[in-house]
Amino acid sequence: MDWTREMLESIGGKKIPWMIASESWVMPFSKRDYPSDEAKNSMALLHETGRITRQEAVSMLPPVVLEPQDGDLVMDTCAAPGSKATQLSEAIPNGVVLANEPSSGRLNLLASNRGRLGISNMLIMQHDGRHIGRMPKPGVDGVVVDAPCSGTATTRKNRELWRSWTPKVGRSLFQLQSDITFRAAQLLRPGGRMVYSTCSLDPIENEAVVCDILQRCPWLELIRIDAEKLFPSLIYHRGIDDWPILDEAAQIVEFEGEIPRLPGLAENMLNPSQRGMEAPKLSHTIRVHQHDNDTGGFYVALFEHVAERTPEGIARSMILKRQLNREPEELTRKRKNKHTTIPASEETVDEICSIWGLNKDDFAWWQRGRRVNLSNKMVHDRLFEPIVFNNKGDYWPGNDFHPLRIIHVGQPTFTDNKGIWRTRQESLELLRTRLNNGVVEIDSETMISLLKGNAPMREDFPVPIERGSFILKCGEHLMPAWIAARVSLMMDEKEREVLRLKLGIEFEEEEE
Ligand SMILES: C[S@@+](CC[C@H](N)C(=O)[O-])C[C@H]1O[C@@H](n2cnc3c(N)ncnc32)[C@H](O)[C@@H]1O
Repeated sequence: MDWTREMLESIGGKKIPWMIASESWVMPFSKRDYPSDEAKNSMALLHETGRITRQEAVSMLPPVVLEPQDGDLVMDTCAAPGSKATQLSEAIPNGVVLANEPSSGRLNLLASNRGRLGISNMLIMQHDGRHIGRMPKPGVDGVVVDAPCSGTATTRKNRELWRSWTPKVGRSLFQLQSDITFRAAQLLRPGGRMVYSTCSLDPIENEAVVCDILQRCPWLELIRIDAEKLFPSLIYHRGIDDWPILDEAAQIVEFEGEIPRLPGLAENMLNPSQRGMEAPKLSHTIRVHQHDNDTGGFYVALFEHVAERTPEGIARSMILKRQLNREPEELTRKRKNKHTTIPASEETVDEICSIWGLNKDDFAWWQRGRRVNLSNKMVHDRLFEPIVFNNKGDYWPGNDFHPLRIIHVGQPTFTDNKGIWRTRQESLELLRTRLNNGVVEIDSETMISLLKGNAPMREDFPVPIERGSFILKCGEHLMPAWIAARVSLMMDEKEREVLRLKLGIEFEEEEE
Protein backbone atom coordinates (compact mmCIF):
# COMPACT_ATOMS: atom_id res chain seq x y z
CA MET A 1 0.00 0.00 0.00
CA ASP A 2 2.76 2.42 0.96
CA TRP A 3 4.63 1.47 -2.18
CA THR A 4 1.50 2.19 -4.27
CA ARG A 5 1.14 5.60 -2.60
CA GLU A 6 4.79 6.40 -3.32
CA MET A 7 4.35 5.41 -6.95
CA LEU A 8 1.28 7.64 -7.31
CA GLU A 9 3.00 10.57 -5.60
CA SER A 10 6.08 10.18 -7.79
CA ILE A 11 3.97 10.81 -10.90
CA GLY A 12 2.06 13.77 -9.47
CA GLY A 13 -0.96 12.07 -7.81
CA LYS A 14 -2.83 13.92 -5.05
CA LYS A 15 -5.43 12.59 -2.61
CA ILE A 16 -9.01 13.66 -3.43
CA PRO A 17 -10.01 15.78 -0.42
CA TRP A 18 -13.77 15.22 -0.73
CA MET A 19 -13.57 11.43 -0.87
CA ILE A 20 -13.35 10.29 2.74
CA ALA A 21 -15.10 6.92 2.44
CA SER A 22 -12.08 5.33 0.77
CA GLU A 23 -8.61 6.39 -0.29
CA SER A 24 -8.84 8.04 -3.71
CA TRP A 25 -6.33 9.92 -5.79
CA VAL A 26 -6.50 12.28 -8.72
CA MET A 27 -3.77 12.37 -11.35
CA PRO A 28 -2.70 15.59 -13.08
CA PHE A 29 -3.17 14.00 -16.53
CA SER A 30 -5.87 12.08 -18.37
CA LYS A 31 -5.69 8.64 -20.00
CA ARG A 32 -5.17 10.37 -23.35
CA ASP A 33 -2.20 12.56 -22.45
CA TYR A 34 0.31 10.94 -20.16
CA PRO A 35 3.25 13.26 -19.43
CA SER A 36 5.77 10.44 -19.86
CA ASP A 37 6.11 6.76 -20.68
CA GLU A 38 7.03 6.21 -17.03
CA ALA A 39 3.69 7.68 -15.87
CA LYS A 40 1.80 5.64 -18.46
CA ASN A 41 3.55 2.39 -17.52
CA SER A 42 3.19 2.97 -13.78
CA MET A 43 -0.54 3.63 -14.07
CA ALA A 44 -1.04 0.55 -16.26
CA LEU A 45 0.97 -1.63 -13.88
CA LEU A 46 -0.85 -0.46 -10.76
CA HIS A 47 -4.24 -0.87 -12.41
CA GLU A 48 -3.62 -4.23 -14.03
CA THR A 49 -2.24 -5.76 -10.85
CA GLY A 50 -5.28 -4.57 -8.88
CA ARG A 51 -3.43 -2.05 -6.72
CA ILE A 52 -5.60 0.79 -8.03
CA THR A 53 -8.72 1.11 -10.16
CA ARG A 54 -8.62 3.91 -12.70
CA GLN A 55 -11.97 5.62 -13.02
CA GLU A 56 -13.70 8.97 -13.27
CA ALA A 57 -13.66 10.47 -9.73
CA VAL A 58 -17.39 11.23 -9.51
CA SER A 59 -18.25 7.71 -10.59
CA MET A 60 -17.39 6.73 -6.99
CA LEU A 61 -20.32 8.71 -5.53
CA PRO A 62 -23.24 6.22 -5.86
CA PRO A 63 -21.81 3.37 -3.71
CA VAL A 64 -20.88 5.89 -1.02
CA VAL A 65 -24.38 7.43 -1.09
CA LEU A 66 -25.88 3.94 -0.63
CA GLU A 67 -23.89 3.49 2.64
CA PRO A 68 -24.25 -0.31 2.62
CA GLN A 69 -23.70 -2.18 5.90
CA ASP A 70 -21.15 -4.98 6.02
CA GLY A 71 -23.15 -8.21 5.73
CA ASP A 72 -25.70 -6.70 3.30
CA LEU A 73 -26.85 -8.25 0.04
CA VAL A 74 -26.45 -5.46 -2.52
CA MET A 75 -27.43 -5.58 -6.19
CA ASP A 76 -25.90 -3.52 -8.99
CA THR A 77 -28.37 -3.75 -11.89
CA CYS A 78 -26.15 -2.26 -14.64
CA ALA A 79 -22.74 -3.29 -13.44
CA ALA A 80 -20.19 -3.51 -16.29
CA PRO A 81 -17.33 -2.70 -16.38
CA GLY A 82 -17.66 -2.93 -12.63
CA SER A 83 -16.25 0.24 -11.03
CA LYS A 84 -19.20 0.53 -8.68
CA ALA A 85 -19.75 -3.20 -8.16
CA THR A 86 -16.11 -3.70 -7.14
CA GLN A 87 -16.21 -0.58 -4.94
CA LEU A 88 -19.30 -2.01 -3.22
CA SER A 89 -17.67 -5.44 -2.80
CA GLU A 90 -14.66 -3.86 -1.13
CA ALA A 91 -16.91 -1.78 1.16
CA ILE A 92 -18.77 -4.87 2.47
CA PRO A 93 -16.26 -7.75 2.69
CA ASN A 94 -18.72 -9.84 4.72
CA GLY A 95 -21.63 -8.99 2.45
CA VAL A 96 -22.40 -10.03 -1.12
CA VAL A 97 -22.72 -8.03 -4.33
CA LEU A 98 -25.01 -9.32 -7.08
CA ALA A 99 -23.52 -7.67 -10.15
CA ASN A 100 -25.84 -7.80 -13.15
CA GLU A 101 -25.05 -7.02 -16.77
CA PRO A 102 -27.06 -8.06 -19.83
CA SER A 103 -24.35 -7.69 -22.48
CA SER A 104 -22.09 -10.77 -22.80
CA GLY A 105 -19.07 -8.76 -23.97
CA ARG A 106 -19.34 -6.35 -21.06
CA LEU A 107 -19.95 -9.22 -18.65
CA ASN A 108 -16.43 -10.42 -19.45
CA LEU A 109 -15.07 -7.01 -18.48
CA LEU A 110 -16.87 -7.33 -15.19
CA ALA A 111 -15.38 -10.79 -14.59
CA SER A 112 -11.87 -9.63 -15.41
CA ASN A 113 -12.15 -6.65 -13.06
CA ARG A 114 -13.34 -8.96 -10.29
CA GLY A 115 -10.28 -11.18 -10.96
CA ARG A 116 -7.89 -8.21 -11.19
CA LEU A 117 -8.99 -7.07 -7.71
CA GLY A 118 -9.19 -10.58 -6.21
CA ILE A 119 -12.80 -10.08 -5.13
CA SER A 120 -14.57 -13.13 -3.70
CA ASN A 121 -17.87 -11.70 -2.47
CA MET A 122 -19.37 -10.96 -5.88
CA LEU A 123 -21.77 -12.97 -8.03
CA ILE A 124 -22.03 -12.06 -11.68
CA MET A 125 -25.40 -12.55 -13.32
CA GLN A 126 -26.84 -11.88 -16.75
CA HIS A 127 -30.34 -10.42 -17.05
CA ASP A 128 -31.97 -7.55 -18.79
CA GLY A 129 -32.28 -5.19 -15.80
CA ARG A 130 -35.99 -4.83 -16.54
CA HIS A 131 -36.52 -8.53 -15.92
CA ILE A 132 -34.09 -9.59 -13.19
CA GLY A 133 -35.13 -13.02 -11.93
CA ARG A 134 -36.85 -13.71 -8.68
CA MET A 135 -34.72 -14.43 -5.63
CA PRO A 136 -35.14 -15.71 -2.06
CA LYS A 137 -37.11 -13.68 0.47
CA PRO A 138 -36.91 -10.99 1.74
CA GLY A 139 -35.09 -9.50 -1.30
CA VAL A 140 -31.99 -7.34 -1.49
CA ASP A 141 -30.89 -4.90 1.23
CA GLY A 142 -29.56 -2.31 -1.19
CA VAL A 143 -29.40 -1.53 -4.92
CA VAL A 144 -27.39 0.68 -7.21
CA VAL A 145 -29.03 1.44 -10.56
CA ASP A 146 -26.29 3.18 -12.55
CA ALA A 147 -28.47 3.39 -15.61
CA PRO A 148 -27.49 3.41 -19.29
CA CYS A 149 -27.65 7.09 -20.22
CA SER A 150 -26.73 9.70 -22.81
CA GLY A 151 -23.48 10.52 -20.96
CA THR A 152 -23.99 14.28 -21.29
CA ALA A 153 -21.93 14.81 -18.13
CA THR A 154 -18.90 13.17 -19.72
CA THR A 155 -18.32 15.92 -22.31
CA ARG A 156 -14.84 16.66 -20.96
CA LYS A 157 -13.78 13.17 -22.00
CA ASN A 158 -16.21 12.58 -24.87
CA ARG A 159 -16.04 15.81 -26.82
CA GLU A 160 -18.03 14.52 -29.80
CA LEU A 161 -21.12 14.37 -27.54
CA TRP A 162 -21.37 18.16 -27.89
CA ARG A 163 -22.13 17.68 -31.55
CA SER A 164 -24.27 14.54 -31.50
CA TRP A 165 -26.59 15.27 -28.53
CA THR A 166 -30.15 16.42 -29.15
CA PRO A 167 -33.01 16.54 -26.62
CA LYS A 168 -34.56 13.39 -28.05
CA VAL A 169 -31.56 11.29 -26.89
CA GLY A 170 -32.62 11.55 -23.25
CA ARG A 171 -36.27 10.99 -24.15
CA SER A 172 -35.33 7.76 -25.95
CA LEU A 173 -33.67 6.41 -22.76
CA PHE A 174 -36.26 7.52 -20.20
CA GLN A 175 -38.50 4.42 -20.34
CA LEU A 176 -35.58 1.98 -20.14
CA GLN A 177 -34.13 3.88 -17.17
CA SER A 178 -37.48 3.93 -15.39
CA ASP A 179 -38.20 0.24 -16.11
CA ILE A 180 -34.80 -0.98 -14.84
CA THR A 181 -35.25 1.10 -11.67
CA PHE A 182 -38.82 -0.17 -11.23
CA ARG A 183 -37.66 -3.80 -11.32
CA ALA A 184 -34.92 -3.02 -8.79
CA ALA A 185 -37.50 -1.35 -6.52
CA GLN A 186 -39.64 -4.49 -6.70
CA LEU A 187 -36.73 -6.63 -5.45
CA LEU A 188 -35.76 -4.27 -2.60
CA ARG A 189 -36.76 -5.46 0.87
CA PRO A 190 -38.68 -3.13 3.20
CA GLY A 191 -36.18 -0.84 4.93
CA GLY A 192 -33.69 -1.30 2.07
CA ARG A 193 -32.19 1.60 0.12
CA MET A 194 -31.71 2.18 -3.60
CA VAL A 195 -29.48 4.64 -5.45
CA TYR A 196 -30.33 5.81 -8.95
CA SER A 197 -27.50 7.50 -10.86
CA THR A 198 -26.43 8.58 -14.33
CA CYS A 199 -23.48 10.37 -15.87
CA SER A 200 -25.94 12.67 -17.62
CA LEU A 201 -27.22 16.07 -16.52
CA ASP A 202 -30.38 15.96 -18.62
CA PRO A 203 -33.36 16.27 -16.20
CA ILE A 204 -35.41 13.93 -18.40
CA GLU A 205 -32.97 11.12 -17.55
CA ASN A 206 -32.73 12.15 -13.91
CA GLU A 207 -35.40 14.11 -12.04
CA ALA A 208 -38.14 12.99 -14.47
CA VAL A 209 -37.17 9.33 -13.91
CA VAL A 210 -37.20 9.90 -10.14
CA CYS A 211 -40.75 11.41 -10.36
CA ASP A 212 -41.90 8.50 -12.50
CA ILE A 213 -40.47 5.94 -10.06
CA LEU A 214 -42.11 7.62 -7.07
CA GLN A 215 -45.44 7.42 -8.91
CA ARG A 216 -44.96 3.79 -9.91
CA CYS A 217 -43.61 2.69 -6.51
CA PRO A 218 -45.67 4.25 -3.70
CA TRP A 219 -43.65 2.15 -1.22
CA LEU A 220 -40.56 4.29 -1.91
CA GLU A 221 -39.54 7.60 -0.40
CA LEU A 222 -36.85 9.98 -1.55
CA ILE A 223 -34.09 10.41 1.07
CA ARG A 224 -32.05 13.60 1.34
CA ILE A 225 -28.44 12.90 0.38
CA ASP A 226 -26.21 14.35 3.09
CA ALA A 227 -23.52 15.43 0.66
CA GLU A 228 -21.74 17.70 3.16
CA LYS A 229 -21.18 14.71 5.45
CA LEU A 230 -20.35 12.15 2.77
CA PHE A 231 -18.26 14.37 0.46
CA PRO A 232 -16.98 17.38 2.43
CA SER A 233 -15.73 20.17 0.14
CA LEU A 234 -17.28 18.68 -3.03
CA ILE A 235 -19.10 21.41 -4.93
CA TYR A 236 -22.53 20.12 -5.90
CA HIS A 237 -26.04 21.34 -6.73
CA ARG A 238 -29.42 20.13 -5.60
CA GLY A 239 -31.85 18.37 -7.96
CA ILE A 240 -34.29 20.66 -9.81
CA ASP A 241 -38.07 20.51 -10.11
CA ASP A 242 -38.56 22.84 -13.03
CA TRP A 243 -37.17 21.87 -16.41
CA PRO A 244 -38.12 23.08 -19.85
CA ILE A 245 -39.38 21.13 -22.87
CA LEU A 246 -36.82 21.42 -25.65
CA ASP A 247 -37.33 20.95 -29.37
CA GLU A 248 -34.71 19.32 -31.59
CA ALA A 249 -32.84 22.61 -31.94
CA ALA A 250 -32.70 22.71 -28.12
CA GLN A 251 -35.05 25.72 -28.08
CA ILE A 252 -37.58 26.01 -25.26
CA VAL A 253 -41.14 25.09 -26.29
CA GLU A 254 -43.81 26.86 -24.21
CA PHE A 255 -46.18 24.47 -22.45
CA GLU A 256 -49.80 25.45 -22.96
CA GLY A 257 -51.66 22.56 -21.42
CA GLU A 258 -51.17 20.17 -24.35
CA ILE A 259 -48.12 17.89 -24.66
CA PRO A 260 -46.11 19.31 -27.57
CA ARG A 261 -45.68 16.87 -30.50
CA LEU A 262 -41.97 16.20 -30.24
CA PRO A 263 -40.15 12.91 -30.96
CA GLY A 264 -40.44 10.57 -27.97
CA LEU A 265 -41.95 13.14 -25.58
CA ALA A 266 -44.53 11.70 -23.15
CA GLU A 267 -46.46 13.15 -20.24
CA ASN A 268 -44.32 11.52 -17.56
CA MET A 269 -41.28 13.46 -18.84
CA LEU A 270 -42.88 16.84 -18.08
CA ASN A 271 -41.93 18.67 -14.92
CA PRO A 272 -44.25 18.31 -11.88
CA SER A 273 -45.98 21.68 -12.33
CA GLN A 274 -46.73 20.95 -16.01
CA ARG A 275 -48.18 17.59 -14.92
CA GLY A 276 -50.26 19.23 -12.19
CA MET A 277 -48.67 16.98 -9.57
CA GLU A 278 -47.18 17.90 -6.26
CA ALA A 279 -43.41 18.06 -6.73
CA PRO A 280 -41.53 15.42 -4.77
CA LYS A 281 -38.53 16.74 -2.86
CA LEU A 282 -36.19 16.62 -5.84
CA SER A 283 -33.79 18.85 -3.92
CA HIS A 284 -32.99 15.69 -1.91
CA THR A 285 -31.06 14.49 -4.98
CA ILE A 286 -27.69 15.87 -6.11
CA ARG A 287 -26.08 17.00 -9.34
CA VAL A 288 -22.36 17.46 -9.80
CA HIS A 289 -21.33 19.69 -12.71
CA GLN A 290 -18.21 19.16 -14.78
CA HIS A 291 -16.66 22.60 -14.22
CA ASP A 292 -17.00 22.73 -10.44
CA ASN A 293 -14.53 20.15 -9.19
CA ASP A 294 -12.37 19.44 -12.23
CA THR A 295 -14.20 16.13 -12.69
CA GLY A 296 -16.95 14.67 -14.86
CA GLY A 297 -20.57 15.36 -13.91
CA PHE A 298 -23.04 13.02 -12.20
CA TYR A 299 -26.58 12.82 -10.91
CA VAL A 300 -27.49 10.76 -7.82
CA ALA A 301 -30.83 10.07 -6.07
CA LEU A 302 -31.41 7.95 -2.96
CA PHE A 303 -34.67 6.09 -2.18
CA GLU A 304 -35.81 4.00 0.75
CA HIS A 305 -38.42 1.26 0.80
CA VAL A 306 -40.48 2.53 3.74
CA ALA A 307 -40.92 -0.53 5.97
CA GLU A 308 -44.37 0.49 7.28
CA ARG A 309 -45.73 0.60 3.74
CA THR A 310 -45.06 -3.13 3.24
CA PRO A 311 -46.16 -4.92 6.42
CA GLU A 312 -45.57 -8.31 4.72
CA GLY A 313 -41.86 -7.65 5.38
CA ILE A 314 -40.71 -8.83 1.92
CA ALA A 315 -39.89 -7.20 -1.40
CA ARG A 316 -42.95 -6.19 -3.40
CA SER A 317 -42.36 -8.71 -6.20
CA MET A 318 -42.58 -11.51 -3.61
CA ILE A 319 -46.04 -10.68 -2.34
CA LEU A 320 -48.68 -12.92 -3.90
CA LYS A 321 -51.45 -11.07 -5.71
CA ARG A 322 -53.90 -13.87 -4.90
CA GLN A 323 -53.66 -16.45 -2.11
CA LEU A 324 -53.17 -20.01 -3.33
CA ASN A 325 -56.12 -22.21 -2.42
CA ARG A 326 -54.06 -25.39 -2.87
CA GLU A 327 -50.70 -26.68 -1.69
CA PRO A 328 -47.74 -24.91 -3.39
CA GLU A 329 -46.12 -27.10 -6.07
CA GLU A 330 -42.42 -27.76 -6.46
CA LEU A 331 -41.28 -26.51 -9.89
CA THR A 332 -38.74 -28.24 -12.13
CA ARG A 333 -35.17 -27.08 -11.76
CA LYS A 334 -33.31 -25.74 -14.76
CA ARG A 335 -31.09 -28.41 -16.40
CA LYS A 336 -27.39 -28.03 -15.61
CA ASN A 337 -24.63 -27.95 -18.24
CA LYS A 338 -20.84 -27.84 -18.01
CA HIS A 339 -20.93 -24.06 -17.45
CA THR A 340 -23.26 -24.27 -14.46
CA THR A 341 -21.66 -23.44 -11.14
CA ILE A 342 -22.38 -26.15 -8.59
CA PRO A 343 -21.15 -26.71 -5.04
CA ALA A 344 -17.76 -28.43 -5.10
CA SER A 345 -17.98 -32.08 -4.04
CA GLU A 346 -17.03 -32.95 -0.48
CA GLU A 347 -14.18 -35.07 -1.84
CA THR A 348 -12.72 -32.11 -3.80
CA VAL A 349 -13.05 -29.75 -0.83
CA ASP A 350 -11.39 -32.24 1.51
CA GLU A 351 -8.58 -32.85 -0.96
CA ILE A 352 -7.86 -29.12 -1.43
CA CYS A 353 -8.10 -28.45 2.30
CA SER A 354 -5.63 -31.20 3.11
CA ILE A 355 -3.15 -30.07 0.42
CA TRP A 356 -3.26 -26.42 1.41
CA GLY A 357 -4.13 -26.69 5.11
CA LEU A 358 -7.34 -24.70 4.80
CA ASN A 359 -10.34 -24.75 7.09
CA LYS A 360 -13.28 -25.69 4.89
CA ASP A 361 -15.72 -23.79 7.08
CA ASP A 362 -14.05 -20.48 6.21
CA PHE A 363 -15.68 -20.41 2.76
CA ALA A 364 -18.46 -21.63 0.50
CA TRP A 365 -16.92 -23.88 -2.19
CA TRP A 366 -18.06 -23.82 -5.82
CA GLN A 367 -17.01 -25.69 -8.92
CA ARG A 368 -17.31 -24.77 -12.59
CA GLY A 369 -15.51 -27.14 -14.92
CA ARG A 370 -11.94 -27.57 -13.70
CA ARG A 371 -11.99 -24.54 -11.44
CA VAL A 372 -12.89 -24.23 -7.79
CA ASN A 373 -14.17 -20.84 -6.71
CA LEU A 374 -14.41 -19.54 -3.16
CA SER A 375 -16.93 -17.10 -1.77
CA ASN A 376 -18.15 -16.23 1.68
CA LYS A 377 -20.82 -18.49 3.16
CA MET A 378 -23.50 -15.85 2.84
CA VAL A 379 -23.71 -16.63 -0.89
CA HIS A 380 -24.76 -20.15 0.00
CA ASP A 381 -27.01 -19.28 2.92
CA ARG A 382 -28.88 -16.36 1.43
CA LEU A 383 -28.97 -17.03 -2.30
CA PHE A 384 -28.29 -20.71 -3.00
CA GLU A 385 -29.95 -22.73 -0.25
CA PRO A 386 -33.39 -21.12 0.17
CA ILE A 387 -36.38 -21.93 -2.02
CA VAL A 388 -37.70 -19.22 -4.36
CA PHE A 389 -41.40 -18.59 -4.99
CA ASN A 390 -42.86 -17.63 -8.33
CA ASN A 391 -45.70 -15.14 -8.74
CA LYS A 392 -48.34 -17.89 -8.40
CA GLY A 393 -47.02 -19.15 -5.06
CA ASP A 394 -45.31 -22.31 -6.37
CA TYR A 395 -41.61 -22.68 -5.70
CA TRP A 396 -38.28 -23.75 -7.11
CA PRO A 397 -36.46 -26.06 -4.69
CA GLY A 398 -33.43 -24.73 -2.83
CA ASN A 399 -29.78 -25.55 -3.44
CA ASP A 400 -29.86 -23.88 -6.82
CA PHE A 401 -29.51 -20.26 -7.95
CA HIS A 402 -32.36 -20.61 -10.45
CA PRO A 403 -34.22 -18.46 -11.51
CA LEU A 404 -31.25 -16.06 -11.17
CA ARG A 405 -28.93 -16.55 -14.16
CA ILE A 406 -25.68 -16.67 -12.24
CA ILE A 407 -22.62 -16.86 -14.49
CA HIS A 408 -19.76 -16.52 -11.99
CA VAL A 409 -19.70 -17.14 -8.25
CA GLY A 410 -16.95 -15.74 -6.03
CA GLN A 411 -13.28 -15.90 -6.93
CA PRO A 412 -11.61 -18.62 -9.05
CA THR A 413 -9.05 -19.89 -6.54
CA PHE A 414 -7.87 -23.36 -7.59
CA THR A 415 -7.43 -24.98 -10.99
CA ASP A 416 -7.09 -28.69 -11.58
CA ASN A 417 -3.74 -29.00 -13.33
CA LYS A 418 -3.15 -32.62 -14.36
CA GLY A 419 -4.79 -33.87 -11.19
CA ILE A 420 -3.15 -31.28 -8.91
CA TRP A 421 -5.16 -28.40 -7.43
CA ARG A 422 -2.93 -25.39 -8.02
CA THR A 423 -3.66 -21.94 -6.61
CA ARG A 424 -4.38 -19.06 -8.93
CA GLN A 425 -2.43 -15.84 -8.70
CA GLU A 426 -5.53 -13.62 -8.31
CA SER A 427 -6.58 -15.51 -5.16
CA LEU A 428 -3.34 -15.08 -3.18
CA GLU A 429 -4.67 -12.25 -1.01
CA LEU A 430 -7.77 -14.28 -0.18
CA LEU A 431 -5.60 -17.21 0.94
CA ARG A 432 -2.71 -15.25 2.47
CA THR A 433 -3.70 -15.62 6.12
CA ARG A 434 -5.44 -18.97 5.79
CA LEU A 435 -2.89 -21.31 4.22
CA ASN A 436 -1.27 -23.74 6.62
CA ASN A 437 0.39 -26.04 4.07
CA GLY A 438 2.06 -25.66 0.73
CA VAL A 439 3.99 -22.49 1.59
CA VAL A 440 7.76 -22.69 1.23
CA GLU A 441 9.96 -19.97 2.74
CA ILE A 442 12.79 -18.80 0.49
CA ASP A 443 15.48 -16.19 0.97
CA SER A 444 15.64 -12.93 -0.91
CA GLU A 445 18.54 -14.08 -3.09
CA THR A 446 16.41 -16.99 -4.39
CA MET A 447 13.43 -14.71 -4.92
CA ILE A 448 15.52 -12.22 -6.86
CA SER A 449 16.96 -14.96 -9.02
CA LEU A 450 13.47 -16.30 -9.85
CA LEU A 451 12.21 -12.80 -10.62
CA LYS A 452 15.13 -12.30 -12.97
CA GLY A 453 13.67 -15.16 -15.00
CA ASN A 454 15.68 -18.10 -13.71
CA ALA A 455 13.95 -21.49 -13.39
CA PRO A 456 16.42 -23.65 -11.45
CA MET A 457 16.42 -27.45 -11.52
CA ARG A 458 14.47 -28.83 -8.58
CA GLU A 459 17.59 -30.60 -7.20
CA ASP A 460 19.51 -27.29 -7.26
CA PHE A 461 16.80 -25.31 -5.45
CA PRO A 462 18.20 -24.05 -2.12
CA VAL A 463 15.21 -25.43 -0.18
CA PRO A 464 14.10 -29.09 -0.49
CA ILE A 465 10.83 -29.04 -2.44
CA GLU A 466 8.43 -31.70 -3.77
CA ARG A 467 6.89 -31.75 -7.24
CA GLY A 468 3.54 -29.95 -7.60
CA SER A 469 2.02 -26.57 -6.81
CA PHE A 470 3.51 -24.43 -4.00
CA ILE A 471 3.56 -20.85 -2.83
CA LEU A 472 6.99 -19.40 -2.30
CA LYS A 473 7.18 -16.83 0.48
CA CYS A 474 9.84 -14.24 1.13
CA GLY A 475 8.92 -11.68 3.79
CA GLU A 476 5.49 -10.33 2.83
CA HIS A 477 5.83 -11.47 -0.78
CA LEU A 478 3.93 -14.54 -2.01
CA MET A 479 4.71 -16.15 -5.35
CA PRO A 480 2.83 -19.16 -6.76
CA ALA A 481 5.19 -21.70 -8.32
CA TRP A 482 4.94 -24.95 -10.26
CA ILE A 483 7.54 -27.55 -9.43
CA ALA A 484 8.41 -30.24 -12.00
CA ALA A 485 11.93 -30.88 -13.21
CA ARG A 486 12.41 -27.11 -12.72
CA VAL A 487 11.00 -24.57 -10.27
CA SER A 488 8.95 -22.04 -12.28
CA LEU A 489 7.00 -19.03 -11.08
CA MET A 490 3.29 -19.09 -12.02
CA MET A 491 2.90 -15.31 -12.05
CA ASP A 492 1.98 -13.06 -14.94
CA GLU A 493 4.54 -10.60 -16.23
CA LYS A 494 2.85 -7.54 -14.64
CA GLU A 495 2.93 -9.02 -11.15
CA ARG A 496 6.62 -9.99 -11.59
CA GLU A 497 7.33 -6.46 -12.77
CA VAL A 498 5.74 -4.99 -9.61
CA LEU A 499 7.91 -7.20 -7.42
CA ARG A 500 11.03 -6.32 -9.41
CA LEU A 501 10.23 -2.62 -9.03
CA LYS A 502 9.56 -2.97 -5.32
CA LEU A 503 12.86 -4.73 -4.82
CA GLY A 504 14.79 -2.52 -7.24
CA ILE A 505 15.80 -5.48 -9.45
CA GLU A 506 17.08 -4.75 -12.93
CA PHE A 507 15.37 -7.10 -15.36
CA GLU A 508 17.62 -9.38 -17.33
CA GLU A 509 16.56 -11.93 -19.92
CA GLU A 510 16.61 -15.54 -18.78
CA GLU A 511 19.98 -16.53 -17.36
CA GLU A 512 21.15 -20.10 -17.63
C1 LIG B 1 -23.40 3.50 -17.10
S1 LIG B 1 -23.00 1.90 -17.54
C2 LIG B 1 -22.67 1.14 -16.00
C3 LIG B 1 -21.33 1.44 -15.43
C4 LIG B 1 -21.03 0.61 -14.21
N1 LIG B 1 -22.07 0.77 -13.20
C5 LIG B 1 -19.70 0.95 -13.58
O1 LIG B 1 -19.64 1.67 -12.60
O2 LIG B 1 -18.67 0.43 -14.05
C6 LIG B 1 -24.54 1.21 -17.94
C7 LIG B 1 -24.54 -0.30 -18.17
O3 LIG B 1 -25.90 -0.69 -18.35
C8 LIG B 1 -25.92 -1.76 -19.25
N2 LIG B 1 -27.29 -1.91 -19.77
C9 LIG B 1 -27.78 -1.58 -20.99
N3 LIG B 1 -29.06 -1.97 -21.08
C10 LIG B 1 -29.39 -2.54 -19.91
C11 LIG B 1 -30.54 -3.19 -19.41
N4 LIG B 1 -31.65 -3.29 -20.14
N5 LIG B 1 -30.50 -3.70 -18.16
C12 LIG B 1 -29.38 -3.61 -17.40
N6 LIG B 1 -28.26 -3.01 -17.83
C13 LIG B 1 -28.26 -2.50 -19.07
C14 LIG B 1 -24.89 -1.37 -20.29
O4 LIG B 1 -24.45 -2.52 -21.03
C15 LIG B 1 -23.80 -0.76 -19.42
O5 LIG B 1 -22.86 -1.74 -19.07
